[in-house]
Amino acid sequence: MKPILIVAVSLAVAVSATWDGNLNYGSPSRRHPSLGIDVPKIAKRSLQTRTSWDPAELNFTHGVASGDPYPDSVILWTRISPTLSNDSSNKTVEGNVPLYNHDTETYIKASPKPVCVEYQVGTDKNFSVVADRGTAYTTSDIDFTVKIEAKNLSPFTTYYYQFAVCGSSNKSPLGRTKTSPRADDDVSKIGLAVYSCSNYPNGYFNAYGNAARKDKVDFVVSPALDELIPADIRITFLMSSVDYRTRIAQYRTDLDLLLSHRQFAWIPVWDDHEVSNNGYRDGSSNLNNTEDSFHKDGGISVDQRKMNAVRAYFEWMPIRQVDMDDNLRIWRSFSMGKLLDLVMLDTRNYDRSITTLGWNDEYVAAIKDDAGRTLMGSHQENWFYNQLSKSSERGAVWRIVGNQIVFSRINNTARSSDGEWLNADQWDGYTASRNRTLSHLYSHSIPNTIFLAGDSHANWVSDLVWLDTKPYDQSTGAGSIGVEFAGTAVSSSGFGGTIASANSKSKGLVKDNRELQWSEGYYRGYYELQIAKEQIQASYYGCPTVATRNPFEISLANFTVRAGENRLQRNVANGSVESGALQRGDVKQTNLTLDTETGTWNVTMFDQMFIKY
Ligand SMILES: *[C@@H]1O[C@H](CO)[C@@H](O)[C@H](O)[C@H]1NC(C)=O
Ligand SMILES: *[C@@H]1O[C@H](CO)[C@@H](O)[C@H](O)[C@H]1NC(C)=O
Ligand SMILES: *[C@@H]1O[C@H](CO)[C@@H](O)[C@H](O)[C@H]1NC(C)=O
Ligand SMILES: *[C@@H]1O[C@H](CO)[C@@H](O)[C@H](O)[C@H]1NC(C)=O
Ligand SMILES: *[C@@H]1O[C@H](CO)[C@@H](O)[C@H](O)[C@H]1NC(C)=O
Ligand SMILES: *[C@@H]1O[C@H](CO)[C@@H](O)[C@H](O)[C@H]1NC(C)=O
Ligand SMILES: *[C@@H]1O[C@H](CO)[C@@H](O)[C@H](O)[C@H]1NC(C)=O
Ligand SMILES: *[C@@H]1O[C@H](CO)[C@@H](O)[C@H](O)[C@H]1NC(C)=O
Ligand SMILES: *[C@@H]1O[C@H](CO)[C@@H](O)[C@H](O)[C@H]1NC(C)=O
Ligand SMILES: *[C@@H]1O[C@H](CO)[C@@H](O)[C@H](O)[C@H]1NC(C)=O
Ligand SMILES: *[C@@H]1O[C@H](CO)[C@@H](O)[C@H](O)[C@H]1NC(C)=O
Repeated sequence: MKPILIVAVSLAVAVSATWDGNLNYGSPSRRHPSLGIDVPKIAKRSLQTRTSWDPAELNFTHGVASGDPYPDSVILWTRISPTLSNDSSNKTVEGNVPLYNHDTETYIKASPKPVCVEYQVGTDKNFSVVADRGTAYTTSDIDFTVKIEAKNLSPFTTYYYQFAVCGSSNKSPLGRTKTSPRADDDVSKIGLAVYSCSNYPNGYFNAYGNAARKDKVDFVVSPALDELIPADIRITFLMSSVDYRTRIAQYRTDLDLLLSHRQFAWIPVWDDHEVSNNGYRDGSSNLNNTEDSFHKDGGISVDQRKMNAVRAYFEWMPIRQVDMDDNLRIWRSFSMGKLLDLVMLDTRNYDRSITTLGWNDEYVAAIKDDAGRTLMGSHQENWFYNQLSKSSERGAVWRIVGNQIVFSRINNTARSSDGEWLNADQWDGYTASRNRTLSHLYSHSIPNTIFLAGDSHANWVSDLVWLDTKPYDQSTGAGSIGVEFAGTAVSSSGFGGTIASANSKSKGLVKDNRELQWSEGYYRGYYELQIAKEQIQASYYGCPTVATRNPFEISLANFTVRAGENRLQRNVANGSVESGALQRGDVKQTNLTLDTETGTWNVTMFDQMFIKY
């Protein structure tokens, strides 16, 4: 009698715990419970559904992922969906959530049938010691995604994890992840691979695979995740949560991206295209906050569209919701030992003043210096300055700022065919926010701040300076308050043209911008930061081609920042880079052969010339 009772009780507890255990059933915001899923309703519906999936009908098509490492926990992610390759029924709706089969790219009948998955986390690949395990449910309501928090973990430790369809041998790929160190741990070194802007129709995401194959970093940081242009011609303009889910699902079929997610814990934030091009508080270049637009777009408002995008993002990305009361909040921070604080910003979608929308560019250029303009909203801005101060007060050596858009002032004349061109969608359009940031750093003497940036599809390495306000010596770097490392795209287009034409643009750019020490716009790629107490080493890599899936890469440039110096070490890049233009120094181009007919590099030659990981 007694044992049976215990079993019944623990089953009931287990059932409610597993529905809630999948974080994707929760709303991204407490203030918007309607964005979440009514778990009791689904649990009840499931009990009424007598049939269940045959494990053979289910597939872990999109692999596994992990992210947002804390010292004792990490987020684990997978997707387990029915393949149903023969079901060609029309788009059907269940509670406004049509079900899309990403394997066959067809809409399938929504199904109330839940999928049960179990997971385990251990310190070796055989799970000989299990640190955490559990069960979770998923359904079509959340696109069959599973997001759980693995707990009871040890700081700065590598773990392996795996999902399986409950009670079956249908298992996900084996994932690897890592927790962060505790804030007061003495960590000697942390490696980060930094990415931005992948564009699926534009090319293969080789850059993700290269860092995974080298395996020299602890975490992947994406200050500006994806350019996210749908290759799927049926979706030209994204509106619904299904549209956004479908696009992310398509991106997450790239084998090198899957490899990176499987091997590293990611710390990503979105850029503009996760919602819409050039967004701001009240719209984007393709969406006005007007009655006209509302009707034209089939009754979808700016806010609804943002919510659909945000919901799909939280479903698919292995990230935490740090403040449930703030529906668009993705900005958050990570303390990693006494070595560094990583502050991730949202300069894109959160309470941002109007940006360039295509038809108003002259207006934005005219108001760019208005004191009332804000890039992040006052709530986030104040949080940001506080984070910088607190980090400095606690004695963390480095402050790494994961930010989407280029921070430094850029005179773009060299890139423009008709005179000066202001990119007011970057910090250049929000000089009041930039000045407040610089003023905070200078007036509080906050040292060792490193800005990361993406979005621009080109490489920009600069001393962090307040031109026209603070003195700055271009040759020594004196007067600088930090360094900016902005990186090129994984596959989105850069300056275009040939190496020679791109390098000539870079030459003009470093000439017109005193603080810009290296410019490069030809190669697609990424960079790695090896962060130690004494110094940061930045290594930039270029992919010779993204027209094929290949493991080749070229070392483009290396930089050192010594702790306490707040500038790039001289000679910058040791006076020599592979491509682009240096403020002072040479470009020593490797002799590659380009097949001019196909526009691709001769890969046979790479075998001889480059490291193949
Ligand atoms: C499961 O997904 C993998 C990865 O996308 C794919 O290679 C495989 O064909 C799929 N299996 C089925 C039965 O659809
Ligand atoms: C799927 O369709 C093909 C072709 O019509 C058929 O041969 C196959 O048996 C079907 N498979 C299932 C599982 O229904
Ligand atoms: C989908 O719906 C359309 C319009 O009702 C119909 O013409 C078509 O045959 C349907 N397709 C399938 C596969 O049921
Ligand atoms: C894991 O299992 C494999 C094969 O069973 C074995 O060779 C290996 O030694 C095991 N590793 C550990 C860490 O237990
Ligand atoms: C938004 O409004 C502006 C100004 O009226 C107009 O030029 C633009 O075409 C509109 N954009 C859309 C997507 O409707
Ligand atoms: C920011 O500082 C720059 C350089 O000192 C100055 O030109 C610009 O007007 C300032 N902008 C605002 C809004 O204070
Ligand atoms: C930008 O550079 C060009 C030279 O290429 C120069 O004529 C122009 O004055 C510069 N603009 C600013 C704002 O410094
Ligand atoms: C960067 O440093 C690595 C390792 O020291 C070296 O192999 C590579 O050639 C360097 N790259 C450049 C462009 O100097
Ligand atoms: C610059 O060159 C020196 C001496 O050759 C070497 O020790 C150092 O690692 C190089 N630095 C970079 C950033 O490549
Ligand atoms: C570069 O490649 C071309 C064509 O293969 C060859 O003629 C030339 O000698 C090479 N230059 C160097 C410096 O290796
Ligand atoms: C590629 O380079 C190799 C080695 O230089 C050469 O033998 C081969 O003919 C080249 N292939 C093409 C398509 O140019």
